[in-house]
Amino acid sequence: MSFDRLKISKKRVFSGIQPSGNLHIGNFVGVLKQWVASQEEKDNIFCIVDLHAITVPQDPKELKGKIRELAGLYVAAGIDFQKSIIFVQSHIPAHTELAWILNCYTPIGWMLKMTQFKEKSENKESVSTGLLDYPALMAADILLYDTDEVPVGEDQKQHVELARNIAQRFNNIYGPTFKLPEAVVPKVGARIMGLDDPTVKMSKSNFKLGHAVHLLDSPEQIRAAFARATTDSLTEIRFDQSRPGLYNLLEIYEIFSGLTRPEIESKFADKNYSQLKEELAEVVIAGLKPLQDKYHQLMGDPGTLEKILAEGAEKARQIAEPKLREVKNKIGLG
Ligand code: TYM
Repeated sequence: MSFDRLKISKKRVFSGIQPSGNLHIGNFVGVLKQWVASQEEKDNIFCIVDLHAITVPQDPKELKGKIRELAGLYVAAGIDFQKSIIFVQSHIPAHTELAWILNCYTPIGWMLKMTQFKEKSENKESVSTGLLDYPALMAADILLYDTDEVPVGEDQKQHVELARNIAQRFNNIYGPTFKLPEAVVPKVGARIMGLDDPTVKMSKSNFKLGHAVHLLDSPEQIRAAFARATTDSLTEIRFDQSRPGLYNLLEIYEIFSGLTRPEIESKFADKNYSQLKEELAEVVIAGLKPLQDKYHQLMGDPGTLEKILAEGAEKARQIAEPKLREVKNKIGLG
């Protein structure tokens, strides 16, 4: 089989992360690890979704820095820019243009039903229209690239399903245009919970001390965050979903140690919560070290990062622009 045919038969993967707040181990295990693992056998496109970040207020200088930081973290986590496309969403205007078009084919009721919009707008005096419309931009991201699979954490599954529904609706009117994407959610780590409160998802924009372990945290910060993690008053260490604090810690341990659940339960059979927390901190510190080393090395050489993003945008543009032209032709624009 020729190289080209082999490439065509590969599944196209698209995913993205917002350059807002601080990336945490939930983002790492929920998505980044999956992306890296799939890059040999899939055709991957990874986006830094800066236009999604401005759906809530951002400081311009900080946002600019966060976009570079996230690009650095993608590469440091192991995404090989020669095998995968890494680019910044706002560098390709086709995303916003298609988002506008898709808006016009999306009933507003579909947007109002989104759990994330309901959560993020709850108790707020005023939210931007962008926050409500955010899933149309996400649908444009995905549909522009004829995406087969979208690896995401649990909280983004509903948005990928909406993208699929929008694609189906458009295809019903204009004939086959968009591929129908599928969300791929990891079996373990799709919803890492806050260390301070295991009833809420670990979040990039929750800056409370002890809530999260961030990818660039020092060993001392990681030890302190796990040491104060909320558990319960029981003693036996086992995977039990009715004990959410302990379950969350064990799930993180499972991912970072690579051990099976029975192996973990027998390892900690005679140990207490503080010993678990200490061992967990060490396994996470060791797991993040290669990423942190590579990140600091990369940030010392900003020219390389700029080059990666410029090349990524060029490759992404070559896929996105013909798709947008096809859509505009179909609906009678231009
Ligand atoms: P964002 O930036 O909020 O989160 C990035 C990814 O991390 C996952 N995630 C988690 N996984 C496990 N445990 C957690 N506690 C946790 N918190 C976050 C998210 O599910 C997500 O996969 N709208 C998206 C970004 C986006 C996108 C796209 C994704 C824009 N366009 C197109 C896929 C395809 C978002 O805000 O993710």
